[in-house]
Amino acid sequence: MEFPYTRPRRLRVSSAVRSMVQETRLNVNDFIYPIFVCSGNGVKNPIESMPGIFQLSIDEAKKEAKEAYDLGIKSVILFGIPEHKDEIGSEAYSEDGIIARAINEIKSYLPDLVVIADACFCEYTSHGHCGIIDKKGKLLNDPTLELLKKEAYVYAKMGADIIAPSGMIDGMVRAIRESLDSNSFEDVSVMSYSAKYSSSFYGPFRDAAESAPAFGDRKTYQMDYHNAQEAIKEVILDVNEGADYIMVKPALAYLDVIRIVKDKFPYLPLVSYNVSGEYAMVKAAAKMGWIDEENIMMEILTAIKRAGTDIIITYFSKDAARILNK
Ligand code: PBG
Repeated sequence: MEFPYTRPRRLRVSSAVRSMVQETRLNVNDFIYPIFVCSGNGVKNPIESMPGIFQLSIDEAKKEAKEAYDLGIKSVILFGIPEHKDEIGSEAYSEDGIIARAINEIKSYLPDLVVIADACFCEYTSHGHCGIIDKKGKLLNDPTLELLKKEAYVYAKMGADIIAPSGMIDGMVRAIRESLDSNSFEDVSVMSYSAKYSSSFYGPFRDAAESAPAFGDRKTYQMDYHNAQEAIKEVILDVNEGADYIMVKPALAYLDVIRIVKDKFPYLPLVSYNVSGEYAMVKAAAKMGWIDEENIMMEILTAIKRAGTDIIITYFSKDAARILNK
């Protein structure tokens, strides 16, 4: 295509003009805020590698959710830190487990807040893997699906609006959809962590959720970061199984994957997870005085959206909302 000669700088002459011609605009509606819930009362444990983020007891988690909600954030995603872990992660699907109670209390307190329940087992198993394992440590796919069905049912019963399976177990979306539909939870959505990579960027999260695997790694279930096209296959399967939302995770080192997925599946809301390591790097460099934290944060979040993301899960939600609300 040939363009008549023009001067691109005419569209950059002033801040008003620049705002008019912006292709991508961040909005508070774009954010999902993660909250880590632990037992006890009045507990607010700082997570060292994630400044500004805490393990919160349910009463404190309610306050945190309210603060986010008052800033205009529409949704939170909850992660539980159980008191007891076992081989089969039974607290994950117990009706009086930490996360079931947290969903129930937060949803009753803030009925209009969209409450997303992360559905996995790594926080609840003594071995720290995302499902049931055999004696050799191999993750057993289909037996794990049975537990996921129970887990999804319990979270929906407690009031979760969206179930977000994050374990990269084959068939997880179908299993959860079946469990929800057969229990009359047709209106509860599934947000699948469709293309979740095995990533070192999850390090700080594992401190926060106390969910590091006791041995081995997650490479037999999470994706290999050398692959981008494979993400298409993962998403096709999830869409066919009935996912309402699809996800790419992490975000920043995976902008190409976000773009590929958005181009192939423009009709589904695409979520990207701006993960703990991405957050920690910005916080650490800012603390050293090496970067401008606010500007870098806004640039990163905008880039994630520009790549094709509709909704961003980010620990920066409250900070970014404060800037956008100014
Ligand atoms: C649980 C889960 C993880 C994250 C979200 N859900 C950890 C993992 O897979 O090891 C990571 C989020 C982050 O790093 O912010 N399966």
